[in-house]
Formats: sequence, C-alpha cells, structure tokens
Amino acid sequence: MSETAKIILDGKEYNLPVVEGSENEKAIDISQLRAQSGYITLDYGYKNTGSTSSAITFLDGEKGILRYRGYSIEDLAENSSFMEVAYLLIYGELPSKDVFEKFDQNIRKHTLIHEDIKKILDGFPSKSHPMGVLSSLVTTQTAFYPESLDPSRSPEGVDLSIIRILAKMPTFVAWAHKHKLGHPVVYPNVNMDYCSNMLQMMFKMPGNDYDVDPVVSNALDKLLILHADHEQNCSTSTVRITGSSRASLYASVSAGINALWGPLHGGANQAVIEMLENIKADGGDTKKWMAKAKDKDDPFRLMGFGHRVYKNFDPRARIIKKAADDVLEKLGIQDPVLDVAKGLEAEALSDDYFVERKLYPNVDFYSGIIYRALGIPVDMFTVMFALGRLPGWIAQWKEMRENSEPIGRPRQVYVGENLRPYVPLSKR
Ligand code: CMC
Repeated sequence: MSETAKIILDGKEYNLPVVEGSENEKAIDISQLRAQSGYITLDYGYKNTGSTSSAITFLDGEKGILRYRGYSIEDLAENSSFMEVAYLLIYGELPSKDVFEKFDQNIRKHTLIHEDIKKILDGFPSKSHPMGVLSSLVTTQTAFYPESLDPSRSPEGVDLSIIRILAKMPTFVAWAHKHKLGHPVVYPNVNMDYCSNMLQMMFKMPGNDYDVDPVVSNALDKLLILHADHEQNCSTSTVRITGSSRASLYASVSAGINALWGPLHGGANQAVIEMLENIKADGGDTKKWMAKAKDKDDPFRLMGFGHRVYKNFDPRARIIKKAADDVLEKLGIQDPVLDVAKGLEAEALSDDYFVERKLYPNVDFYSGIIYRALGIPVDMFTVMFALGRLPGWIAQWKEMRENSEPIGRPRQVYVGENLRPYVPLSKR
C-alpha cells in the first residue's frame, strides 16, 4: 500500500494520499480534505503549500540546488546561452543544432514591433517607472494579436504567441529605456544575437556608431540564464494563477511583471544598489546598518539577503558574485559599493541574527553591481530580471495550460463580523 498521512479531526480519522516527486520530495494531497471533513488548511504566504506538480525546475533550498529540466544552473550558466535555455525551459529538451537555428531565426524575425506602439509609448509620462511601461506594452499585444485571447487556441497558435513575446520583449525593454531618456527609439537588428540586439537598441544614439562589447553582452546573457526560472515564486505563481482563468499568455506575463516589481521580489536588485549607495554616502559604517536590519522596531531590512526557500546558500548568488568580480576586472571598473557589499556579506555571515535565521545573500545582492558595470541604469535592473524570467513564465504558463489545471482559487478563514442588520444612513 502506498504511503498515506492520517489526520484526526473531531475524533474522525482521514487518510490522505502522499505524493512523491522525482527527487523524492513528499507532499500530502489535501485536495479532498474539505469535501470529506469540512476543514481547509491555512498557510499564510503559502510557505508550506504546493500549488502544482511541475517538471520544469527543481530546487532544493537546503542543499542550494537549482536545475532547469534536470540540468544544473552551474552547467547551464557556464556552457549554454540564454536562447538555448529559453528553448529548454519552454519545450523540455535541449534543441538539436537544426532546431535551435530555426528557433533563433524565428525569434529574430519577430523582433520588430508595430509602429503604433510608439504612440502608446508617447502617452507615458517620461518619469514613468519602466516596469509599469513594460507590463503595459506586453498587455498591448492582446490588442495587436487579438487571436491570442482565444483560450482554445491550437498549439501552433500558442507557439506563435510564445515566439512573439520572446522576440519583442527586448524591443519593449529598450524602448521603455529610450522613452525615459526622451531619446528616439532604435530599431531591432536581426543580424545580432538576443542580448547584443537589445544592448544596441538601448545604447545606440542618433548619428553615433555603437559597437556592442562582447564582455557586456556575454555577462548579460549569463545573468538572464540565472534568472530564467525559479519554480513557484511570487511572479510565476501570479502568471500561473492568471493563466488558470484562461487569460492569454500576454495578459498572464504582464501580471507576472507587476508581481515581480515589488522590492521583496525582483525589485530587490534596485533596492540593493540604492541601499549600498546610502550606506556608502552615510560613511560606509556597515555595523550601523547591520544593527538597523536586526532592530525589530526599524523597518529596514538588509536587501538582497534572505530567501523563502534557500536556507543554506543561493547557488545563483555564488555564480553572480564571481561574475561581478570578472566583469569589473574585464571592463576595468572599480565600484566602491562592491566593497560595501562584500563588507556587509562578511559581517552577516558571522552574525548570530543572520546565521540563526539562515539569511544569506540572494541572487539580487550582486546582480545590481554587474548591471551597473554594464551601463544599465538602476531603474532598469528589475526590467532585466523580467526579461530573464520570461522563458520561465512562458514555460510555467504552457505547462499549466497543457495539464488543463483548474482555475486557481484559494480559500480563506473568515474572521470578520457575523451577520448584522443594515442601519439606514439617516439613523447613523
Ligand atoms: N534583513 C533582516 N532580517 C531579515 C531579512 C533581511 N533581509 N530577511 C528575513 N529577515 C528576518 C525576518 O525579520 C524574520 O525574523 P523573525 O523570525 O525574528 O521574525 C526572519 O528573518 C524570517 O523572515 P521572513 O520575512 O519570515 O522570511 P520570508 O521567507 O517570508 O521572506 C524574503 C523572504 C526574501 C522576502 C526576505 O528574506 C526579505 O525580505 N529579504 C530582503 C528582500 C530581498 O532581498 N528579496 C529578494 C529575494 S531573491 C529574488 C527573488 O527571487 O525575487
């Protein structure tokens, strides 16, 4: 007999099936519990709740393991490319050479965006945060490709939406940046690889040549690989739950971008660099800021530290820390906030508060330092994260759809007023 969990409620015993994943992860399936007993489970922030079973990403927070489709993040970051990883995540296997070339060509073919997007872009105030602009531009695709709204679309139709969003996202990203600067937009160049094309759209100026530095495009490519998926995090769960209502890929990805924006999630990379700048401007007294982070009466948190699932180390942070050193050296840049970051990390790693709570640097602690070295402005950091996470969101949305998952609809424990009579306004 397969393993079951017993739960006793009001003296009655219920047997709940135990589900086991391919890496021996175990879960108690409570989906029938309410129907049988009237009880639901309660788990604020879903800290211990699995919302789905997925074959995309494996993560072991205790051991610091992250794998996409069975391939280790270290292996992929060292040897693969972002486009190849995108294919792997979305379609489940590494592509053959021919298949990859076709995929890559197809992406290049769809990089151009409709000219009317410029009019929409012009409507945004120049001080708009590019994350808001990005999520809006992604939503506009439902208007340019209304057939994408059909929830019963053929797999070919869905594939076309996937190619389009992957292809157009760098153009949206670059144009959001140009809009903020008030500069004319630069069109995509189909002869360039994914990252180089985006960099030229971001940094080319009218009348000037712009040669993409391979150090910069390779570093960016690696960062995007590291961000490409992270199983059921806040933004990915948002994408899946949005898509579970049969909302289109574009609507679901747009929702994911908004969820990523917050400083506790993708917005942390911007928050980290701003924090490091503040500490430096304040005289670089890391001890003072560590004390603030530990003070429960002070809302300050050490940004870029801690993670919901990594309780030993974040494998992406290790790769990024080394990449930060490499990139700064190759580009001949000395960034004083790197010293502040390393000082903070060293102190936190030997501080009881951080050790006891298993708080380690996460992916966002050093990524901002690299982005800055690559010339990317601070308010574009989270946008880069969104671009990196795009293949993961697509893969998760596609998996949810192909598995015909039910609409996401958590329950709650109501703690409000009991029934009471309405009192007319004149009597209050
Ligand atoms: N600085 C100071 N204390 C912290 C921090 C921090 N960065 N993170 C957690 N703690 C404390 C927290 O106060 C709590 O203490 P206590 O048990 O005494 O109440 C304990 O550690 C557990 O924290 P939690 O908030 O219950 O943990 P969580 O799993 O709900 O939150 C987190 C995870 C990432 C939101 C949180 O660690 C945090 O706010 N970190 C800073 C923001 C950040 O860097 N976010 C990026 C995450 S990685 C990129 C991504 O995937 O989005």
